[in-house]
Amino acid sequence: MKNVIKQDYDVNRKKREIIKNQKASVFWLTGLSGSGKSTLANALHTELTELGFHSYVLDGDNMRLGLNSDLDFTEEGRNENIRRIAEVAKLFVDSGLIVITAFISPFIAERQKVAELIGISDFNEIFVDADLDLCEDRDVKGLYKKARNGEIKEFTGISSPYEKPLNPALKIDASKELKKSLNILKHFVISKINI
Ligand code: ADX
Repeated sequence: MKNVIKQDYDVNRKKREIIKNQKASVFWLTGLSGSGKSTLANALHTELTELGFHSYVLDGDNMRLGLNSDLDFTEEGRNENIRRIAEVAKLFVDSGLIVITAFISPFIAERQKVAELIGISDFNEIFVDADLDLCEDRDVKGLYKKARNGEIKEFTGISSPYEKPLNPALKIDASKELKKSLNILKHFVISKINI
């Protein structure tokens, strides 16, 4: 960008990580609506907090009520949603935090851009793998029913695509008990954030 020059500050990421006694990183949960991303993010956040780690959750529904309230669910809207979240996550990592994100983030190319923006060494793609049938049966928010009735357009899995990760850092089988999934996720995360 023209006429804008990056400013450096004396307190940097390394110093912020040292006072928090952790390595900052992003744990990017991707999967269908109703796959359990937010539930897992919440449980992981709780466990990390109890262990004394400093983490923060960025959640699709919540972000769309605030920062991203101007965005829709068209491909462009979703891409801009993910682009902004990636920028926010990058800032949080620089602040020394462990970032857990819960967004459908349905497109491979956009998740790849996130990885590049954040940097592959700080980015962990976690696929919360749930069959559409399972999510639709659960239908916790009643949105699948609305999508089937045509009340919601471009609903992921019904009338808008979801591209599964080809090579995620971790895959969680959403049909398994939450406790088991959480344990797998927790061990993976802790192996990445200990200094
Ligand atoms: S993303 O595709 O842009 O990554 P995001 O994770 O922010 O989606 O938001 C998904 C949440 O928005 C869903 O869990 C659901 O509650 C709600 N939602 C509303 N409309 C749609 C839609 N058309 N497709 C998917 N989710 C929707």
